[in-house]
Amino acid sequence: MKIELTKTSQSESVLVAFAVNAKQGKESRLKLTHLELGQRLKSAIEDKELSPQPLETVLFRDIQFDGFRHVLVVGVSEKPQHEHIRQLAASVHGALKSAKTSSALIHFDGLPHSKKDSASFLQALTEGLLLTNYSFDELKTKKKDKDTPKEILVRIQTKTASEATMKRAFHEAHILAESVNFSRRLGDMPGNLMTPTILANTVLAAVKGTGIKATVWDKARIKKEKMGGLLGVSNGSDQEPRFIILEYKGAPASKKPICFVGKGLTFDCGGISIKPSASMEEMKYDMCGGANVLGATLAIAKMKLKVNLICLVPSTENLVSGSATKPGDVHFARNGKSFEVNNTDAEGRLILADALCYASEQKPQIIIDAATLTGAIVVALGNTHTGYFTRDKALKKKVETAADHSGEWVWNMPLTDFHVKDMKGTYADLSNISASKGAGSATAAAFLEQFVEPGIPWAHFDIAGTAWSVGSRLPYCPKKGASGAMVRTFVELAKQF
Ligand code: BES
Ligand code: ZN
Ligand code: ZN
Repeated sequence: MKIELTKTSQSESVLVAFAVNAKQGKESRLKLTHLELGQRLKSAIEDKELSPQPLETVLFRDIQFDGFRHVLVVGVSEKPQHEHIRQLAASVHGALKSAKTSSALIHFDGLPHSKKDSASFLQALTEGLLLTNYSFDELKTKKKDKDTPKEILVRIQTKTASEATMKRAFHEAHILAESVNFSRRLGDMPGNLMTPTILANTVLAAVKGTGIKATVWDKARIKKEKMGGLLGVSNGSDQEPRFIILEYKGAPASKKPICFVGKGLTFDCGGISIKPSASMEEMKYDMCGGANVLGATLAIAKMKLKVNLICLVPSTENLVSGSATKPGDVHFARNGKSFEVNNTDAEGRLILADALCYASEQKPQIIIDAATLTGAIVVALGNTHTGYFTRDKALKKKVETAADHSGEWVWNMPLTDFHVKDMKGTYADLSNISASKGAGSATAAAFLEQFVEPGIPWAHFDIAGTAWSVGSRLPYCPKKGASGAMVRTFVELAKQF
């Protein structure tokens, strides 16, 4: 899909126009926001032949209106928010695809909005179209249906197309959607084709021309750097682990960096504490935390945000073999703290421990981590909200603002000293599983907290419920595939530093 901004009404194959169900007392009346089209379709409206609910579409084939062959009418709510527009874009995308059209003009000024919402609505519409356009079919050998046009050209028509804020919003939408789609692809790739080495090499290729400096540590270097958590998890695998470091300098060197950390488990079978077979294939997504902070970093660099950023991704497989870490084994993290591995399936926290130590050493303003860390967060929040943990009030505010702007749903979860107590070890400093029942996501967060230097504001995002298979909630996300959760929110967050 190619999207352009235009001021004039060029005739394309399809005109996309909007219909609002305006409330009048108890009754509601359909109104087309494109006035001339409203005149033309007057009888269809009066006969209730045309009455799409918000997000529904009606296609008028071969209607020949004002140079357009077809007209697509899309229902929109009376006072939409930008997230509604993102979802509406998914409806438009679906309808254009089914119509097998190759070009369309969207009557953007017909979306009900005030002047101050123009840029964010344009951004949401563009993002929604490009995010919906993502598909992961590179591993399929069968060629696509010949009748379906290869590419759809979509022109978004608005009188304000030449305003700087509109151009900027349009440009940022492209960068964001491309970055989210980059992260999604990393997640969707199966474990054999997205090993830690392949992940690192893919990142090295992706940063070219962005101004990002990328460094990749191999197993020998990881050992030398005393990353006992990452090494311990990788023990059972024939694939070498990697530690990926990205550095972006968008501000003077005197400005402290912000730090992103992401869990990069390219496959998690649970290790010796092996997972059940059912749905185990989904554990290729266990690197989505890493994939998504990488995507956010690319977006921040491409937008040239005035921030210094360090992005860290510890990456390994968690498998079974004669050399795999066994329940009861004790390892030492980079900061010298020891931990008993009482369940080898609680491995994400072990590799994040080393990365959080390294992040703390950089003396950053904040540390943000993302991880598909616990099944418990799926029980608590399902696939709608990403649960996040922080004890820092100012950072909590910033996270909420960022999520408001991105449209992604987050939910603040509790993290207390009780949870910390639950993670004490019997033979080592810490245990990787809780001594108490329940609150599995909070106790995991409490474990992570032991590796963040006190005083550095830190927030942990558990994306286990939102990293993939959210299509039932968000129409611009794939039904089953990776979603790219939190990429947009983390970019918004970076804008506040
Ligand atoms: N990668 C999983 C968490 C996960 C589970 C993500 C299901 C998405 C869906 C993680 O490594 C894990 O297995 N965690 C264990 C921890 C437990 C053993 C304390 C879990 O949540 O069951
Ligand atoms: Zn696990
Ligand atoms: Zn895992």
